[in-house]
Amino acid sequence: MSDSNQMMDDQKSQADIQKEHARYIKPLGDWKRSHNCGALSLADDGREVCLMGWVQYRRDHGGLIFVDLRDRDGLTQVVFSPEIAPEAHRDAHVLRSEYVLAIRGRVRPRPEGMRNPNLATGEIEVVVLDWKLLNTAKTPPFPVEDRSDAGENLRLAWRYLDLRRPRMANNLRLRHRIVQAVRSYLNELDFLEVETPILTKSTPEGARDFLVPSRLNQGQFYALPQSPQQFKQMLMMSGVDRYYQVARCFRDEDLRADRQPEFTQVDIEMSFVDEDQVMSMAEGLMARVFHDAMNIDLPLPFPRLTWEEAMRDYGVDKPDTRFDLRLRDVTACVAGSGFKLFASAPLVKALRVPQGGTLSRKEIDDLTEFVKIYGAQGLAWIKIHESEWQSPIAKFLSEGERAALTRELGLEPGDIVFFQAGEPGMVNAALGNLRVRLGQQMNLIPENAWNFLWVTDFPLFEYSEEEQRYVACHHPFTAVQEASRETMTSDRANARARAYDMVLNGNEVGGGSIRIHTPEDQYRMFEALGFSDESARAQFGYFIQALEYGTPPHGGIAFGLDRVAMLLTGSSSIRDVIAFPKTQKATCLLTDAPDTVSARQLRELGLRLRETPAANPGTDSGQEAKTE
Ligand code: AMO
Repeated sequence: MSDSNQMMDDQKSQADIQKEHARYIKPLGDWKRSHNCGALSLADDGREVCLMGWVQYRRDHGGLIFVDLRDRDGLTQVVFSPEIAPEAHRDAHVLRSEYVLAIRGRVRPRPEGMRNPNLATGEIEVVVLDWKLLNTAKTPPFPVEDRSDAGENLRLAWRYLDLRRPRMANNLRLRHRIVQAVRSYLNELDFLEVETPILTKSTPEGARDFLVPSRLNQGQFYALPQSPQQFKQMLMMSGVDRYYQVARCFRDEDLRADRQPEFTQVDIEMSFVDEDQVMSMAEGLMARVFHDAMNIDLPLPFPRLTWEEAMRDYGVDKPDTRFDLRLRDVTACVAGSGFKLFASAPLVKALRVPQGGTLSRKEIDDLTEFVKIYGAQGLAWIKIHESEWQSPIAKFLSEGERAALTRELGLEPGDIVFFQAGEPGMVNAALGNLRVRLGQQMNLIPENAWNFLWVTDFPLFEYSEEEQRYVACHHPFTAVQEASRETMTSDRANARARAYDMVLNGNEVGGGSIRIHTPEDQYRMFEALGFSDESARAQFGYFIQALEYGTPPHGGIAFGLDRVAMLLTGSSSIRDVIAFPKTQKATCLLTDAPDTVSARQLRELGLRLRETPAANPGTDSGQEAKTE
């Protein structure tokens, strides 16, 4: 917009300007769009076209008025010329950013020197012969462009404007292409797409349920599905054989950049299969997605690591293998050390970072704070110099220990080594996450690398400190490996599951397992989890009963669609690939959900709030709920 327009706009109120400009609005009439705003090129020179979109900018230049017209496909420069079409030029000065505009005009090459190689349509412009204002717009709270530095909360509150930005429009498009690739691959393999209920019974997927009160059955609640797990298994019992669903899942858990309270899975289940068949189907699926959506051919099959190998070398169960730092068990090297922390620890691991000796004291202090998130007390380190080891702990290490560490870790001058000593869970989490952080901080991660791998042979159970008992590591419908079958109840810590995760660049993008398919094994599983037969029947009676009527062996997997789309679009949060996501606090800034409801709604559901919620200013319903 020109400065003089801006000054005039500043003086008038928004509402006045909109009212004044509204008189230019015309109906679409019989105008039909001929191209989208990213389509035209020199090949269209001379062609008469009709474009529709939003005004990105208006620039007035020596009589000519230029408008960048935007739609989800791109930008086209349109020119209003007093010589060529004086009528069309006359009122074009009213155009403002985000006004909705239709133009008819003729394509012509841009003059030499005015071409923009960064724009798909940068070689041409369209000279306007006629135009219609289809709608006005208030000045948006942030400029609708990729360069916008609007904070995320502002973007979420005005999501429809945010989604007009090219990057977001591209994210939606790529997500669409991923889903289409998934569907076409699975359809070709004879999978049936089947929908399963959203209002259902609580599913033990490990997170907290979202509950929905029932009006017709007062005092009772539906749970929103954490995943369609039991339904997809019951579809195998139904003879569906091969199922998939692009399924919405709901989990009330602490949110992070890669977690949303409602997210989408590509959920898959197959009958009469083993692990290898599910995994090769899943690899083929990813290969198709990368081919169709990204034009990338992935090498198959993906490498596999057992869970134990992953924990040993990377400290986490979703290793980022794009860079080759590895953890090393050095417990034996320092078993008799004068450094008591090392000598007495059940596990001591080291992470050698070649050329990491350049890290400053401040940087090391920051890393020390970082590992505390994972329960570490501190972070021991040694910088390896030609003549000496620089470290607060160097003086405790004997010549023999130094020699052992040098041998074990392949130490060279310029390196830094980090150590963690203590319980294996903490040691692995602290060093494993430190490894990822250093990979990022020290630019060790190559761009455009797509490192897929499988992690297999997961533990069947994990100990939950919170619940003070063993819980299923994947979910309680996962089959035990034959080798652990006899000991799964007596030695739960070492029982292994027929479960597998697909990992991409350090992110868990999918997980699944071969399932239990006999009632006997399912009872044994519940027993190992501490359920009596009665309590298992009370909670899962319908499911165990279904297992009793001829259940085929079956297995499956679910992909986190949002995570896949996040990685493929190069986004740093899954919120950027979800049209209307929730904040970290699980709220929707656009609609203000969750919100209070009226006293009448609560009454109908037979509910009364125990405590008066803080009034929600501006909603009558908040007041009403308080008076109940
Ligand atoms: P799981 O719980 O591992 O398995 O989930 C499968 C995949 O879903 C993604 N995911 C999430 N994405 C975004 N936000 C979340 N809160 C979230 N939670 C999980 C992850 C994960 O790998 N029923 C089983 C699957 C099966 O056994 O077939 C299940 O849900 O990418």
